[in-house]
Amino acid sequence: MRWRVFLCLLSMHHFKVSSSTSAANRCFCQVTGSLDDCACDVETIDAFNNEKLFPKLQTLLQSDYFRFYKVNLNKPCPFWKDNRLCGQKNCAVIPCTPNEVPDGIKTNGHHNKYLEEANKEECERTEKLGAVDRSLSEETKVSLREWNKHDDEAERFCVIDNEESPDSQYVDLLLNPERFTGYKGPEAWQIWNSIYEENCFKPYTVKRPLNPMVSYSGTDGKLFYSWLEGQCVEKRAFFRLVSGLHSSINIHLSARYLLDENWSETKWGHNVSEFQQRFDAHLTKGEGPKRLRNLYFLYLIELRALSKILPLFQRPSFQLYTGQPAQDQQLKLKLLELLQLAKSFPLHFDETSLFAGNKEEAASLKEDLRLTFFNISRIMDCVGCFKCRLWGKLQTQGLGTALKILFSERLIEALPRSINTNPTFQLSRQELVSLLNAFGRISTSIRELENFRSLLSKVR
Ligand SMILES: *[C@@H]1O[C@H](CO)[C@@H](O)[C@H](O)[C@H]1NC(C)=O
Ligand SMILES: *[C@@H]1O[C@H](CO)[C@@H](O)[C@H](O)[C@H]1NC(C)=O
Ligand SMILES: *[C@@H]1O[C@H](CO)[C@@H](O)[C@H](O)[C@H]1NC(C)=O
Repeated sequence: MRWRVFLCLLSMHHFKVSSSTSAANRCFCQVTGSLDDCACDVETIDAFNNEKLFPKLQTLLQSDYFRFYKVNLNKPCPFWKDNRLCGQKNCAVIPCTPNEVPDGIKTNGHHNKYLEEANKEECERTEKLGAVDRSLSEETKVSLREWNKHDDEAERFCVIDNEESPDSQYVDLLLNPERFTGYKGPEAWQIWNSIYEENCFKPYTVKRPLNPMVSYSGTDGKLFYSWLEGQCVEKRAFFRLVSGLHSSINIHLSARYLLDENWSETKWGHNVSEFQQRFDAHLTKGEGPKRLRNLYFLYLIELRALSKILPLFQRPSFQLYTGQPAQDQQLKLKLLELLQLAKSFPLHFDETSLFAGNKEEAASLKEDLRLTFFNISRIMDCVGCFKCRLWGKLQTQGLGTALKILFSERLIEALPRSINTNPTFQLSRQELVSLLNAFGRISTSIRELENFRSLLSKVR
């Protein structure tokens, strides 16, 4: 019953939308009120996010620990010959120079996950000596690297860039915000099309036009969605997550649109008509509001993952290491506060019924979803515009991490409290940074909907 309550977000009602309703209603009329027989409604999520969670999360994301993301933007596209748009200035990503990244992150960042566990004695010794240098011995580094490599590959839902590769660079996410880049048209459609067409369990017999944003509903709309109805709950949920991610990205592009520029300055802001193109029920033949509901679905899933991860971070040995002990400790408290808040949200669903089939069935289904999502994360290396590639990789990695958490709930709950035992479930710094930043994007999107709602109410 509980998941069912939650799954009402997935329901496939076809609404009749008259073109005479107001502009605001045409995007939002179906994105309101109780979600069918849901315990949670859109307004509750809006209020929780916009007033409580969003401001807290934003402060966290401004910190050194969360703003530096190590990523390899130079991997070749594994599927087709990609066209890199290096020339477009809005697509450029400016990597950090070495002295911009705190030493603690550079030297220990990616080993951080096992830092204290493996190195406790060493740390205690240096602490006694009053030293703050917590760098690892070469020997420990090598063994950690090995450990890192094999331990949870089988659990991962996405490609993790090798942080040791010379092509991986730190990027300051605050200096490279996600916004409109001019990356659209057939190139961008190809990315989303290969995701929806080849990586969402859709049967090959269901066809859809190339431009998914504008006209894929059309006369085939019903047909397109009918394949979903025949899918199991889990695969439908998967499609909803991908669609929610797509919506979120489009909300950002519409909210930070390149409105005007001249030789001296560039003006970014809301473009209401771009938003309508993507979400207006009439202009999208009924698709838009469904896309927005999928955004809320994605929000709840990632929120759920955050609330589940709390025990891992409550371990005394866990730290957000940047090399500044006092600040690191403070940041940890802020993170715990945020996770407590996430946990306090009354999501009444029980995910055990999501994989209610017999054990073997559930395992093979999980493997199906995992491999498919893994493949989607590889498609991100085909995104031609670097700025979009950066945020695409970060957001798929974040969602992949959320799925990894949700599928490992039992492991997390069983985590030993003792410092001396190696935890059976871990996240790397990269996974943690992507998880929080990806959720930051979704949370910002929900917040932006309020802005668009009010802008649209002024449009006739
Ligand atoms: C991965 O995605 C590519 C591009 O869409 C597709 O051609 C390929 O069949 C997918 N592979 C798997 C294993 O799903
Ligand atoms: C263009 O430049 C002028 C200064 O020369 C400035 O006052 C104006 O606001 C700018 N307009 C934009 C953003 O196009
Ligand atoms: C807003 O977006 C539309 C496309 O949806 C575009 O035609 C228009 O020029 C944009 N407006 C501004 C002010 O850039």
